[in-house]
Amino acid sequence: MESVTHIVLLFCIISSSIVNSNQVETISPPILLSQYNVRHDAVTLSGFSSGSSMATQLHVSHSALFHGVALFSQAFYRCGPHSLVEFGLRCSKLGMGVFPYDFRLSIGDARRYEWMRLIDPLVNLRGQRIFVWIGELDEYVPLEMAMENAKFYETFTSNKSLIRTTVFHAKHLLPTTNFGDACDQDAGQNVYLGNCNYSGAHAALEFLLRDKANIINPFISTQMQNIPQEEGSLMAYDQSEFYSGRNITDEAMGTLGFIYVPKMCQPQFNIADEPCFLHVNFHGCNEWHPQVALRYIRNSGFLLVADANRILTVFPLTTRVPQNMDGCWDFFSYTGSLFATKKGKQIKIVKAIIDRILGKLK
Ligand SMILES: *[C@@H]1O[C@H](CO)[C@@H](O)[C@H](O)[C@H]1NC(C)=O
Ligand SMILES: *[C@@H]1O[C@H](CO)[C@@H](O)[C@H](O)[C@H]1NC(C)=O
Ligand SMILES: *[C@@H]1O[C@H](CO)[C@@H](O)[C@H](O)[C@H]1NC(C)=O
Repeated sequence: MESVTHIVLLFCIISSSIVNSNQVETISPPILLSQYNVRHDAVTLSGFSSGSSMATQLHVSHSALFHGVALFSQAFYRCGPHSLVEFGLRCSKLGMGVFPYDFRLSIGDARRYEWMRLIDPLVNLRGQRIFVWIGELDEYVPLEMAMENAKFYETFTSNKSLIRTTVFHAKHLLPTTNFGDACDQDAGQNVYLGNCNYSGAHAALEFLLRDKANIINPFISTQMQNIPQEEGSLMAYDQSEFYSGRNITDEAMGTLGFIYVPKMCQPQFNIADEPCFLHVNFHGCNEWHPQVALRYIRNSGFLLVADANRILTVFPLTTRVPQNMDGCWDFFSYTGSLFATKKGKQIKIVKAIIDRILGKLK
């Protein structure tokens, strides 16, 4: 375990985000998740860094459920999948591009998994919308590794115009309009959010849902000093009930996650009973602590985009365990070799969470 920790520190995928005492807010007791009135034909995913890995793993595993995915600042599906060392050497800047992992290996894995029925048929990916964002100054993720997310998906989607790749002059971060330091500065102390005069949350959801709705940008017509406040409810939910084993911590997932229900998705305000959209966002490494996660969630831009566009948004949380000291989502097989398939332990839990909201799981 010691060595794993050292490798992680060496890779610096993570700089420690310490809970800042003046940021602490009270977390209400977790609710039990229930079904919500959401569209089943436009469920989307996004993630940052290790959360991007989780988003693409869930997307490829259960492609029949989804409409698209947004991937921020990470290498492609199953890059360097056998260990953190392999990932570090072959998929991160630590390896200096000497022996890069070939994305065609990942395409082969996906086809093999499809044949073994460990993932949904890949034909479901045709017509899906894929958004890829990367900062060219990223300290950890090589630009070409992130760009190969697009090459991976091009193999399976029907139309290249359904894939958008955006490159910014930015470090390893999720871009926002107003939070953190400038885009070209290290964002480790700001929960990996950067002030880029650009909302990654809006850009991603606008691209993913543009064939379903006219997605409004809540930041555009607003003075920077006057960002609107969110109007919906950000609530903790009990995540452990979705794990049938003894203790959800065994899978490096937290006992609670967060759900954001925009006002217009709450039954008492949704008079016309119009379904909302459903989106799931996955945090990066070292954002597992609920207080840190809240800081990330509140400042990421997702909540205001959710309000403006009736998007119910779920933020599942990991936790820190000895085999995963930084609370990363599993992108290097610490929960088992099938981590990127329907049999993946974290994937099973998040799938059950989505099913509950869709009303498929009582
Ligand atoms: C690809 O998608 C774009 C945008 O949705 C559309 O305009 C174009 O006709 C599509 N091309 C093909 C070959 O389907
Ligand atoms: C921010 O971006 C908008 C376009 O999205 C642009 O009009 C504006 O000048 C930019 N502001 C700064 C400070 O760069
Ligand atoms: C689950 O395991 C963690 C770590 O071993 C422990 O701190 C926690 O109390 C356990 N929770 C339950 C409900 O047993």
